[in-house]
Amino acid sequence: MTVHGDKYVLDSGKSGHARLQVVSEIHDDRTRALLLDAGLKAGDRFVEFGCGLGYVTRWASSVGADALGIDLSADQIEEARDLADGKTEFLVGSVYDHGLPPENFDVSYSRWLLIHLNQPVDAVRSIGAALKPGGLMVCAEADLSAIYTEPPSAYHEFLDLAFASGAARGVDYAGGRRLHRWASEAGFDVLRIDAYHPHYLTGEHKGFWGWTFHEAGANLVREGTMTEARYNELTEGMRMADDDQSTLVAHARMHQLVARKLVQPLNGSGC
Ligand SMILES: C[S@@+](CC[C@H](N)C(=O)[O-])C[C@H]1O[C@@H](n2cnc3c(N)ncnc32)[C@H](O)[C@@H]1O
Repeated sequence: MTVHGDKYVLDSGKSGHARLQVVSEIHDDRTRALLLDAGLKAGDRFVEFGCGLGYVTRWASSVGADALGIDLSADQIEEARDLADGKTEFLVGSVYDHGLPPENFDVSYSRWLLIHLNQPVDAVRSIGAALKPGGLMVCAEADLSAIYTEPPSAYHEFLDLAFASGAARGVDYAGGRRLHRWASEAGFDVLRIDAYHPHYLTGEHKGFWGWTFHEAGANLVREGTMTEARYNELTEGMRMADDDQSTLVAHARMHQLVARKLVQPLNGSGC
């Protein structure tokens, strides 16, 4: 495993690419609607932080925005560039110290980034620094505490372990519900807050969290949070829940936020 960001436990190498493609399949329609509803339009300067393989950044380019994607993972940026075929700009960089020219972008987007960070409010301030006064920060972040199955299954024990591991790392896997507070604390005016919550009985996306936990769980075994035997039992239990068409699997609830960078910051100190 390569460690990215503060405490990123998922594989961001080639084996993580297929997972990010599924993230795109599940969430991109909602993301596009959110961005268009927020007012993204042709000619806007758009930046996506933690862009992964760049699905959203490329789509923003396709609607005429002048789009840039940034991610800490050089491997993912390389793949994003290949997929863009030279038509969209991608940079390796951290949301904390991206080095972008100040007050340069109309709209920013980040998805599934802040909940992996120890200092989400600092990251939001850093996003704010790149936005023009009055620019829009659009975010989508998960609350993993909303994951459940009915009837209950191994997912529940795995979730408890994931939260314990997250707490030990100082990251908040329920952070999506706190998006509005992070934005306010960083000096943004919150314009819109909403959430959606995918549920599945069947279908190719039902097992996304079983797959994700399987990937993250191998690292939990390596760090000693869980024995290999228990890991094998739990991943088998999650697979059974995914295969059973009468078991409902609820994914993480996704919180969406649209916030405006104040023209005159409240404390007068800027973002
Ligand atoms: C769960 S992935 C989500 C990727 C993409 N936003 C999506 O929704 O498909 C989290 C991404 O954040 C990136 N990341 C982690 N820490 C970062 C940081 N400090 N600055 C920029 N990107 C970071 C990781 O490399 C990874 O690509």
